[in-house]
Amino acid sequence: MSVTQIVYSSTPFGYDENLLSGLLLDARRCNRRDGVTGALVCRRDVYLQYLEGEDGAVRNTLDRIKKDDRHVDVMLRLDAPAPSRMFGDWAMLHDPALSVAWTEDQVTSGALEQAGPDHFRAVFKAIAQRTS
Ligand SMILES: Cc1cc2nc3c(=O)[nH]c(=O)nc-3n(C[C@H](O)[C@H](O)[C@H](O)COP(=O)(O)O)c2cc1C
Repeated sequence: MSVTQIVYSSTPFGYDENLLSGLLLDARRCNRRDGVTGALVCRRDVYLQYLEGEDGAVRNTLDRIKKDDRHVDVMLRLDAPAPSRMFGDWAMLHDPALSVAWTEDQVTSGALEQAGPDHFRAVFKAIAQRTS
């Protein structure tokens, strides 16, 4: 079955540990149900999420996520077909920091706007390789 991969960025609204664990519970419950896998990188200034799975399932998930008031400014960064999954074992891997990517200062000065889809894919590929 063909796989669709999506990355979006957003700005957390009301970020704290409780909110984050509730959000991850929701994400993992729904993703197991829907056959969606991926990773969520989060920091107080930014969420970056990678989702992969059957095309319709990924788009329905993104539609729900866009309506969520726990974040704002959802911006699609990558939307492409993929030959296979990168996070097949993860209903939603949580990576606590953008350890392989941008600093807060870089995000503030527009680094995400300058990065292209390949860059976002590479960030998550590195995370997938680090955790496999
Ligand atoms: C940063 C962030 C990441 C999320 N990730 C997922 C996810 O991977 N899968 C998912 O189904 N919901 C995710 N959610 C939660 C959805 O927005 C939504 O609450 C959930 O899918 C339940 O939808 P429902 O309330 O319409 O049933 C995320 C929300 C936020 C704010």
